[in-house]
Amino acid sequence: MDFEKRLTEIADKVTVALDQLIPPAQGPEANLMRAMRHAALANGKRMRPFYVIQTGALFEADDTALLRVAAALECVHTYSLVHDDLPCMDDDDIRRGQPTVHKAFDEATAVLAGDALLTLAFKILAGEDTHKDPAVRTRLIERMADAAGAKGMVGGQMIDMLEDEAPRDLNTITRMQRLKTGALISYSVESAAIVGNASDGARHALAGFAQDLGLAYQIADDLLDVTGDQEVVGKTLRRDEAAGKANFVTVLGVDGARERVQLLAAQAKQHLAFFRDRANILLQSVDYVLDRTR
Ligand code: IPE
Ligand code: IPE
Ligand code: MG
Ligand code: MG
Ligand code: MG
Repeated sequence: MDFEKRLTEIADKVTVALDQLIPPAQGPEANLMRAMRHAALANGKRMRPFYVIQTGALFEADDTALLRVAAALECVHTYSLVHDDLPCMDDDDIRRGQPTVHKAFDEATAVLAGDALLTLAFKILAGEDTHKDPAVRTRLIERMADAAGAKGMVGGQMIDMLEDEAPRDLNTITRMQRLKTGALISYSVESAAIVGNASDGARHALAGFAQDLGLAYQIADDLLDVTGDQEVVGKTLRRDEAAGKANFVTVLGVDGARERVQLLAAQAKQHLAFFRDRANILLQSVDYVLDRTR
């Protein structure tokens, strides 16, 4: 089995799961659910779900549990995109190849749809179908809260919004990227290790893997903003520099940022040596992140 086939398979399953988990559009609040569906059922790459499910396979973890965790994580990620695109943040009109939620609906609906996707994620994790042991569910919830909150994704987004005081040193930028993007990617492998009751050694290897991968993933995103094809990427590009964003590309330039992604990708792969040939598809995913065009 190769990586791209596996990614498509997982993406399809997650989309079906999200369709079932997001409430149907009914009642006077129907636009809220329509907006949640517009954002979440759109054509995302589903990389975080891929990492949950493919990492869980290393430990022969339960498929239903992994799919629910993957769907919950995709809800949080999608909410982060809906809010990231708002006029008060990056002010973008296109996402996943279609109008952003505040464009297709309105700003209030986009704020609320993001809120509702975030809370839905916690409902999914808390559900008995996620794991029979309540202690495991509590751990999944607690770590998700850490990854998504002030000391995770939201904290990183706060640093990203500091325009005049935008960090220009690589240490601060690295920390921002690790928080805003790395935290949810780390959760994707950590949650799989929790569900799969992985050994300390495996958790350690995965934590190192995700740290390098998450940073590489955001630098690749920053490169796409400069070098990508908007039709293929499916979101508005050439925005970061004008918006005064500090990232590896604005500081190191395109070539410097490319070198950094390559270095991080090589490091990420080294962490996977722990799993020998069982991590073959995860290894392939690193090359995809390196060369991605969307
Ligand atoms: C975009 O994430 C924002 C980042 C954190 C880099 P993705 O590139 O994974 O976006 P989708 O989910 O495929 O739309
Ligand atoms: C966003 O980073 C990371 C999030 C936590 C949403 P960007 O602002 O660079 O993401 P895109 O380029 O809009 O997808
Ligand atoms: Mg942003
Ligand atoms: Mg953005
Ligand atoms: Mg970007």
